[in-house]
Amino acid sequence: MTAPSTDRHADAPPAQRLEEFPRRFCGVCGRVVRREFKPGPGGRPDASCPRCGSLERHRFLALLLSALQPTMPDLGVLLDVAPTPHVTPLLARLGPRHHVRLDLGADNRLVDVLGSLTELPLPDASVDLLVCYHVLEHVPDDRSAMREIARVLGSGGVGLVQVPFRPGTRTDEDPSADEEERLRRFGQRDHVRYYGDDFEDRLVESGLAFTRVTPRSVLGERMCTWLKVVPDELVWIVRSSANAAVPPPLEVDPTPTGLARAFEATLDELTLVRGRLLDSRAETERLRRQLEAAGSGWTARRVARGVRRRAGRLLGRG
Ligand SMILES: C[S@@+](CC[C@H](N)C(=O)[O-])C[C@H]1O[C@@H](n2cnc3c(N)ncnc32)[C@H](O)[C@@H]1O
Ligand SMILES: [Zn+2]
Repeated sequence: MTAPSTDRHADAPPAQRLEEFPRRFCGVCGRVVRREFKPGPGGRPDASCPRCGSLERHRFLALLLSALQPTMPDLGVLLDVAPTPHVTPLLARLGPRHHVRLDLGADNRLVDVLGSLTELPLPDASVDLLVCYHVLEHVPDDRSAMREIARVLGSGGVGLVQVPFRPGTRTDEDPSADEEERLRRFGQRDHVRYYGDDFEDRLVESGLAFTRVTPRSVLGERMCTWLKVVPDELVWIVRSSANAAVPPPLEVDPTPTGLARAFEATLDELTLVRGRLLDSRAETERLRRQLEAAGSGWTARRVARGVRRRAGRLLGRG
């Protein structure tokens, strides 16, 4: 007869075990954070990684990139519009031959090219991967910007696009609004609109075909909590509609179902990290009990020193 397991987690399915693990994992810097994340812009609680400063959207982008990575062994041009310092290394890891970081220069972010999304200094059909997060809501003529994205994407090219979006509404916009009004209506002094459902009509009218994904659709609810991503925050995976009939040379099907399959490997890795921590917690507890049992006296002190050393190593202090 097998002795009953003393580990109360042992028989629980992985999803339940995950729930009992109240820490956060940042997919951008790859660190486990032993408390809630820091507040994000506007005081949004539990949003920003205290280690690297990533926000929810960057953490989901990190996962999207790791799911897409195996399908992009030979990346030519990667265009990163309005680059974020902690995301740049993740993009560099994809090994593009040309990694072009572009921004209008409204702030001091590090770029290779100062330029506008509405007039990209790149040839037609030259870009393999384009990342454009939280830029279009800044651009008065967003349709020009979308047309430029469609123009530069190559036949297998994929764009990852995100904007602040309120489903079930129409886009509220006014490029002539003053800063106070922009803040009130669009959430930031330098935003000229808040997108609603017609965002997708604009994409299509500008020559882009798209698939939408959300963290919930590919990761599930519990993993969203652990990774602290916003479950229903949409990302649009766009392609030039001129090429939409040509299947992309991606092994990963960029739909939620396809991506969910590709995510499995990534999630397995995350589960491993979590497993190691659970194990080290159990091991720490075992050592603590040994330490208590050692009592006093010379031998006990020697045992205690050894146990402390091992515990220190286990907790990363050795
Ligand atoms: C909120 S930041 C986005 C940062 C980053 N992509 C992220 O997701 O955290 C918006 C950026 O868009 C840039 N921007 C605004 N209009 C632009 C345009 N027409 N072309 C290129 N960049 C533009 C601004 O300079 C600013 O750096
Ligand atoms: Zn981080």
